[in-house]
Amino acid sequence: MSKLAAIILSSPRKGSNSNALARAVAEGLVKAGGRVEFIDLAGLDIKPCLACGNCQSNGGRCSQVDGMRTAYPKLREASILVLATPVYMFNMSAQLKTFLDRCYALLCPEDNAVAGKTLAAAISYGADDLESSGAGNVVKSLQDLGRHTQMSWAGFIHGRGLDRDALAQNGPLLEQARALGAKLIG
Ligand SMILES: Cc1cc2nc3c(=O)[nH]c(=O)nc-3n(C[C@H](O)[C@H](O)[C@H](O)COP(=O)(O)O)c2cc1C
Repeated sequence: MSKLAAIILSSPRKGSNSNALARAVAEGLVKAGGRVEFIDLAGLDIKPCLACGNCQSNGGRCSQVDGMRTAYPKLREASILVLATPVYMFNMSAQLKTFLDRCYALLCPEDNAVAGKTLAAAISYGADDLESSGAGNVVKSLQDLGRHTQMSWAGFIHGRGLDRDALAQNGPLLEQARALGAKLIG
């Protein structure tokens, strides 16, 4: 069975730049023989973690009934996670942060369900570059998360694009994103 990548899209808008990068990563993945499942947070009702701790004592089952119910099985099955986000206020989108908090349920003491997975990111921003936009903060957060949860960091694709569909026109950048996708398959 070929490798499965879960691609998490966290932009709320149509013509999303981070989605364009992530979809190009997906193209590269599929061309290299992988499979892809998109998890589009814009279409899911996902509530913040309640810090009840139930998931930690009952085998990773979150007590909340919402959009994460459909996401958890895909996340468990995937061996590759690609997190796509716009930079909002010098960090990842609130949608992605809320989703990641709920992934606490995958990190039980007796079963770290993300250990050994490959982690990558696709990030778009309006400012000039990685540092002035705050995208560097996103990269640092995700690298720290990967290290702490025993995932293997495989890199990221990033680009400047303020308006809708700006990056969908950027052929060379999309080609780099496809190359990242192929690299994730190995
Ligand atoms: C609420 C909000 C906050 C933003 N904050 C930043 C920021 O801190 N740095 C930056 O470079 N761009 C910022 N932007 C611009 C977006 O990152 C940029 O338009 C990005 O390409 C949007 O990605 P999307 O099309 O996938 O939603 C912000 C946009 C919004 C709506």
